[in-house]
Amino acid sequence: MTEIIDGNAVAADVRAAIADRVETLTDAGSRPGLATVLMSDDPASETYVSMKQRDCEEVGIEGIHIEVDPEAPADELYATIDELNDDDSVHGILVQLPVPDHVDEREVLRRIDPEKDVDGFHPENVGRLVAGHARFKPCTPHGVLKLLEAHDVETEGADAVIVGRSDIVGKPMANLLIQKAPQGNATVTVCHSRTEDLAAHTRNADIVIAAVGVPEFIDGSMIREGATVIDVGVNRIETDDGEGTELVGDVEYDSAADVAGAITPVPGGVGPMTRAMLLYNTVKAASLQTG
Ligand code: GUN
Repeated sequence: MTEIIDGNAVAADVRAAIADRVETLTDAGSRPGLATVLMSDDPASETYVSMKQRDCEEVGIEGIHIEVDPEAPADELYATIDELNDDDSVHGILVQLPVPDHVDEREVLRRIDPEKDVDGFHPENVGRLVAGHARFKPCTPHGVLKLLEAHDVETEGADAVIVGRSDIVGKPMANLLIQKAPQGNATVTVCHSRTEDLAAHTRNADIVIAAVGVPEFIDGSMIREGATVIDVGVNRIETDDGEGTELVGDVEYDSAADVAGAITPVPGGVGPMTRAMLLYNTVKAASLQTG
């Protein structure tokens, strides 16, 4: 029987533990605060940010949301970040990506105070992660590690194949999995659009992590019997009848579930974990800043 890895259930446990910690910090006079900044009118980005704000409310974190007109000059976003850096009630800052083309994304990430960088995207935090002493583990790969742990998936000595080399998922995921225990010690292969014979790699994997952003890119024929399949993709596609849309992952679920030992669904797999780990990082940021 294929095990369905229920991200909603694991995320609910993580949120419950966070809510307790938030209550303790709040009682001590340092209620954690998270600022989300949106400079986009992309409906998906708007939805993601509003879900993050709702999560904050649920666990007692003070959520602040700021919208910057997508047509405004880049300086307006930079000034917003500067103000949030200086605001002691804000412990975490998340600028929803992507930002408009006229804004320098690297400048945005550099500008956020690294102690408030709950995404873990600031170059200082990327450096710390790669060096093996992360301050903030990026939310999606951190969430994947938690899911593997919650479902007793052994990473020690496992062959893990990551499909996708993004700064947000693929690269930090690879770095975390190669690190020493408690979670890591895997042998990691990172595949991408120029990989020749992708299936030859994925078929050898004990753990396949799909993060390419291409709907149903990986199917059951590319998965080894009994492997663990983690699907990071979130793609909105038209339904077969052309009447509406649906969310699918980077993995063709039905054929992969036939051969996998364990698999995450989309939705309800990695997504809720990404959101939960943002709350975790916010509490960590508040703890670091309030000592
Ligand atoms: N856009 C898509 N994923 C992310 C993420 O993890 N963080 C931010 N800030 N923007 C995103």
